[in-house]
Amino acid sequence: MNIVDTYKEDFLTYLNSKIAVKEPVNLYEPMHYILQIGGKRLRPILTIMTCDLFKGNAKEAYDAALAIEVFHNFTLIHDDIMDSAPIRRGKETVHHKWDLNTGILSGDAMMILALQCFESYEPIIFKKLVQLFNKTGLEVCEGQQLDIDFETRNDVSIDEYIKMITYKTSVLVAAAMKMGAIIANATEKDTENIYNFGLNLGIAFQLQDDYLDTFGNSETFGKQIGGDIIENKKTFLYLKCLQVCNLKDKEKLLGLYNSNKTTTTKVEEVTELFKKNKIVEITINEIAVYTKKAFEILNEMDLSEDKKAILKNFGLSLMKRTI
Ligand code: IPE
Ligand code: IPE
Ligand code: MG
Ligand code: MG
Ligand code: MG
Repeated sequence: MNIVDTYKEDFLTYLNSKIAVKEPVNLYEPMHYILQIGGKRLRPILTIMTCDLFKGNAKEAYDAALAIEVFHNFTLIHDDIMDSAPIRRGKETVHHKWDLNTGILSGDAMMILALQCFESYEPIIFKKLVQLFNKTGLEVCEGQQLDIDFETRNDVSIDEYIKMITYKTSVLVAAAMKMGAIIANATEKDTENIYNFGLNLGIAFQLQDDYLDTFGNSETFGKQIGGDIIENKKTFLYLKCLQVCNLKDKEKLLGLYNSNKTTTTKVEEVTELFKKNKIVEITINEIAVYTKKAFEILNEMDLSEDKKAILKNFGLSLMKRTI
C-alpha cells in the first residue's frame, strides 16, 4: 500500500471512531450520512501528510484533519442547498434525502463539531489552529457569496473568478496543509510556503472541478453533469469562452445563460459552444499552469527530494482525477 493510501485508511478508522449517530437522529444521521457516503478525503490526507513530511507525529494531526473534513462536509451540505444540487458522491444530497431545514441545522452543528476537534491541542498550537480555522472559514463564506453574486452578473472577469475560487476552495486546501506544518512545528518559512503550495494546488483543483462539471462522467464524478450551466455559474469555461469566441457565439452564450430554456437543451448547447471554441484544451492548460506554480514553490523549500516527490505525485494524481 502506498503512503497516501495508508494516511487515508488510518484517517478513516479515526473518523469512524469519532462520528456516531445519537439522539436526535434527525440532527446526527445526516452528518453521519454525508461523512460516510465517500469522498476523496483530500484535505485530511494533506494535513496528515504535511505533518509527517515536516517530521511531526502524524497521529497528532488526526484531530485537525478531522476538523477540516467535518468542516468541508458541512460546506458541501450548504453548498448543495445553494446550488440546488440533487446528487453528491453518486447519492442523494442531504436536503433532498431529508429536507432544507435538516440540511441547514445538521450543517450548523457540523461547524461546531469541527471547532470542537481542536480542543485536544495544547494552548499554543490550539490558538494557532483555531485562528487559521476561523480566518479560513470566513474566507470560504466570502467565496461562496461571490459565487452566488456572480450568477446574476454579466461582467465577471477571469481575475474576479480566480479570487472567488481562491476563497471558496483553495484557502481550505492551503489551511489543511498549513495545519499539518503547525502541528509539526515547522519553520515559519516552510509553513508559509506549504500554504502557498496548497493555494495554487487548490486553484488547479477547482478549475478541474469546473471542467468535470461539464465534461466529466456522472457515474465517476458523482454529481449532476451540467449543474454549473443550469445554475448560470460563471466558471472558467464560461468566462474563457466569452473571451475567445466570435460575436455570434458570444450572443448565443449570453442568451442561453440569460434564458429560461429547458435545462437539457441549455446544457447541450452551451457544451457545444465550449467544445467548438476549444475550451477543453484551454482549461486543461490553465490547470497545468497553476499546478506548475505550486510545484515551483516546492523548489524553494528545504525538503528532501523524496518528500517533494510525494507532494508532486499527489498533486499530479489530483489533476488526473475523474472523481
Ligand atoms: C468538492 O470537493 C467541492 C470543491 C471544492 C470542488 P471534493 O472534490 O474534495 O469533494 P469530495 O470530498 O471528494 O467528495
Ligand atoms: C464548492 O464549489 C465550494 C464549497 C463547497 C465551499 P462547487 O459548488 O463547485 O462544488 P461542487 O461542484 O458542488 O462540489
Ligand atoms: Mg456546488
Ligand atoms: Mg457552489
Ligand atoms: Mg463544482
